[in-house]
Formats: sequence, structure tokens, C-alpha cells
Amino acid sequence: MNQSPRIAGPAPRLRVQAMKEYHPPLGSRDKLRLDFNENTLACSPKVREALAEVSAGSLTRYPEREPVEAIVAAHLGLKPEQVALTNGVDEAIHVLFETFLEADDELLLPVPTYTMYEVYASATDARAVAVEAADDLQFPFERLLAAINPRTKVIAIANPNSPSGSAATREQLLEFAARAPHAVLLVDEAYFHFHGETVMDLVGKLPNLVVARTFSKAYGLAGLRLGLLAGPVELMRWVRRVLSPYSVNSLALVCLKAALEDTAYLDWYVGEVLAARSEFEAAVDRLKIRRWPSRANFILVEIGARHEEFVRLMRAAGVLVRDRSSDPGCDGRVRITIGTREQMKHAAVALNEALTALGSGGETQ
Ligand SMILES: Cc1ncc(COP(=O)(O)O)c(C=O)c1O
Repeated sequence: MNQSPRIAGPAPRLRVQAMKEYHPPLGSRDKLRLDFNENTLACSPKVREALAEVSAGSLTRYPEREPVEAIVAAHLGLKPEQVALTNGVDEAIHVLFETFLEADDELLLPVPTYTMYEVYASATDARAVAVEAADDLQFPFERLLAAINPRTKVIAIANPNSPSGSAATREQLLEFAARAPHAVLLVDEAYFHFHGETVMDLVGKLPNLVVARTFSKAYGLAGLRLGLLAGPVELMRWVRRVLSPYSVNSLALVCLKAALEDTAYLDWYVGEVLAARSEFEAAVDRLKIRRWPSRANFILVEIGARHEEFVRLMRAAGVLVRDRSSDPGCDGRVRITIGTREQMKHAAVALNEALTALGSGGETQ
């Protein structure tokens, strides 16, 4: 890597100069948002009530995360020292990588997967080793296991994974933890609520397991930026050295407590999405387009060569979907977030019409 001669003024680190720019397609999203796997409706009304009670005076103080970390830890059946709240899981990933990855280390990950693992790894001096899934996009267990070596320092597994929706089993994750005792095994459970399976109960029991959770998906708090890392006290101690004590703001802390308490709302939303997913999958099957089985609040579908036009047609019909064509092995594939049953009925109509317009089938109603 040579320093670019075109840089005027102080040059950033060479690693940073070599980083790819990442611009998520935000902007003009005032439509049916099936593009970022967010909650498509709203957060719990209890969160709105908690926000309304925030006083102007309370905003003058720096946020105190520790009492809320204790509440979250109790909710997860963990000790407070095992849990760190973060500014979304993105900050959790960033901080974890900054804490553990150095020159000559390797980050091992299956691909396609969540983009930010490679983005944050590229800001470190470590190397990302990506193991590509086969065409079925199932978790590439054997090949990933075979890629473990003494340089492997972090293994990042989104479970369920995005954009595939596939999941690794508990036994597979345990095997990774055992076969790479010198590495941190990050299990990112961003979509846990839709999957229902977790390894959170193993936190503190395995010396190298760290679990991430987000409040951006089922809880509907993506705008507040709230996530967490849970791991053994010995590892979390290092993570806390890197983590800003104030990166989770006080509004987020207030809302987090209210969101956790309203389990009825969370259960209702998750139930709604799971019912909508079955109905939407049936609609996709009637259109005879390929889809991948999903354990999360989205499905990946095969659109083919005219994927860009498809995304444009869907947008024109008021439905935002996410083209994943630039992900490894995903050319022509589009990810569609699952919302409520009513929203997905509208999405199914738009899907049918877009495919008809493209001349790739579609049903006659
Ligand atoms: C697997 C995975 N992890 C983490 C995130 C980001 O979570 P947060 O909004 O908490 O930063 C996403 C968002 O799409 C995701 O798909």
C-alpha cells in the first residue's frame, strides 16, 4: 500500500486510505420500508410514554449506562459485568475488532454476511478471511471449520445470517468455540427474536463466546442506536477499555428499559412477522421464483439479470427492497424485509406486478 500523492493535508492511516467507502442506500425512504430489516411499524407505545416523561433537566447530565446494563443483564440471566450496552451492534463490532484484531491476525467469516464485519476489519491491521457459502447459502460449517488456524483471532457469525436468512446450529457454534480457543467467537443474534434459538445461556460458560444483540430489529428502535455485547467478564473487561462510557445516550437508556418491559408488544410484533413470512413465502412460491428458507424477518429471492429494474419498479409501487447483487454469490438476488400481514399483502401485489412488467412471469389475478 502506497500513500496516495493526491492527498492534501494530513494523510489518514494507510489502512484507512485502502478502505472501501460504504454508503447504505438511505434517503427518500418514506415508503413501505422492506429494505433494512427494521421493524416496519413502530416501537412499543410504552417507549413513547417513557420518552414523553424525559425532562429537559435530565438531558443536561451525561448518560449513566450502568444501572441499565444491570437491568439488561438480569433480563438475560447474566451478571452486569458480562454485559456492555453499545451504540447499536455496529459499535459493538467496531469495538470488539479494535480490542482484539492486530497485525497478522485473521477475522474468519462466512459470506455473504453482514457488510460491517469486513468494513470494520478493514480499518484494523488484520486480514479478513471469507469463506463463501454454496449456492444453497447454508452455513458453510465444514469449510469454515477447516479455515481455522493459529492466526484466527475473531470468528464472526451472524445467526441467523443476512442476507441469506440461514442459521448455524447450537452444536456447530459450540464446535467453533472448542476448535478455536485462541479466538473470540462472535455470535451476532441481531435477528434472534424471529429465530427463537440462542447461545446467550452459554455466555460466561465458554471462555471465548461473545454474543451481540440489537434493539434495531424486533424492538423497532433502529433510530436510537442500541445494541449490546455479552461475554465472559475477562473479555468484557478489555472491551470496556475501548468502549466510550457515553456512546449510548440517555434517551436510548430510558427507552431500553421501557422496551424490555413491554414483552406483550414484542411478542405480538414477532408473531405478526412470522405469520406474514409464511403468507409471503406462499405468494413467492405461487410466482415460481426461487427463494431461500429464512429464520429471520426477511427473505432473499432470485430476480435475475433485471434486478435493478425490479428494485426500481418496486420503489415506483411504493415498496423499498434491497438489491444484494454485489454480495458474494448473490448476483440477481434481492432481499425483502417481512413486515405485518397487511403490509406484505401490498408487497405481494407489487411483486407480482413488477415481475409481470419485467416479463418474468407473475400471476394473472
Ligand atoms: C447481522 C446484523 N448485525 C448487526 C446489524 C446492525 O445492528 P445495529 O442497528 O444494532 O447496529 C445488522 C443490521 O442490519 C445485521 O443484519
